[in-house]
Amino acid sequence: MSPAMSPARFFAQLWADYICLAPQALHIHALFSADGQVIINDHIAFRTFNMAPISLAHLEPLLLAMGYRRYAPYDFPDKHLSAWSYSAPAADLPRIFFSELDVAVLSPANAALISRLIANVALPRTHNADVFWAGRLWPMPSWAEYQSLLAESEYAAWLAVIGLRANHFTMAVHALQPPLALKEVVAKVSAAGFVFNHDGGVIKGGPAECLEQAATVAARQAFTFAEGDVHEIPACYYEFARRYPDASGALYEGFVAANAAKIFTSTNAMSASTDPAKVRQGGDGEH
Ligand code: NI
Repeated sequence: MSPAMSPARFFAQLWADYICLAPQALHIHALFSADGQVIINDHIAFRTFNMAPISLAHLEPLLLAMGYRRYAPYDFPDKHLSAWSYSAPAADLPRIFFSELDVAVLSPANAALISRLIANVALPRTHNADVFWAGRLWPMPSWAEYQSLLAESEYAAWLAVIGLRANHFTMAVHALQPPLALKEVVAKVSAAGFVFNHDGGVIKGGPAECLEQAATVAARQAFTFAEGDVHEIPACYYEFARRYPDASGALYEGFVAANAAKIFTSTNAMSASTDPAKVRQGGDGEH
């Protein structure tokens, strides 16, 4: 394994890649910077398949080498996902939320497709922290293959096309100065024309869960599929999180599975619309 990358360099490069897939994040940051707010990143999220050499277990050492520590596990049985959250080595660094899809539960055809894609991953590519913004380390699937994955797992379809990149960055709403309630943040961002994920309500969780979250719907981007045809699909989105003190009086460090289950749908093809009526109809399309 290569020497550990500094977290500052890691997140700077990750952000530079992410804003290509979520240009809305730049606009949202500018909205708040214009008011003198300094934006702290609460957490970033990664997605992967549970297959070597890109499974969570294979890539986790790269995070640990930067000083990250496992904090808590999460399970999303209806989406066939499991995840770990990681606490940061310094207060000014974001938490990390890293999920993986259990490929074995997909239909034989889809599981074989994912295995075939992952067989293309060059092992040395997974030994450096820049693998986290390496994108697709395999050939582009065909549009028919994408549709086949999408019918079964929105997560699998997204990951097969987008590859390894930050799925979202997150504003730490509790750190805003002057303070703003999450609903005020949502109102400000909505007024600027950005559409929120309405699945389960715009604001997910609350003070009782010690964590309150909202997320935009992913911006759509055009990709050229294997047979040369171009289609727009949901890419990356931006999240807002407000943490509250837990019973110990310290700021809650964990995540809330019920919130996260709804936030995952921010990349749903049906939700990724600029039409709020369609967003509301989108519902939970993941399985
Ligand atoms: Ni998140």
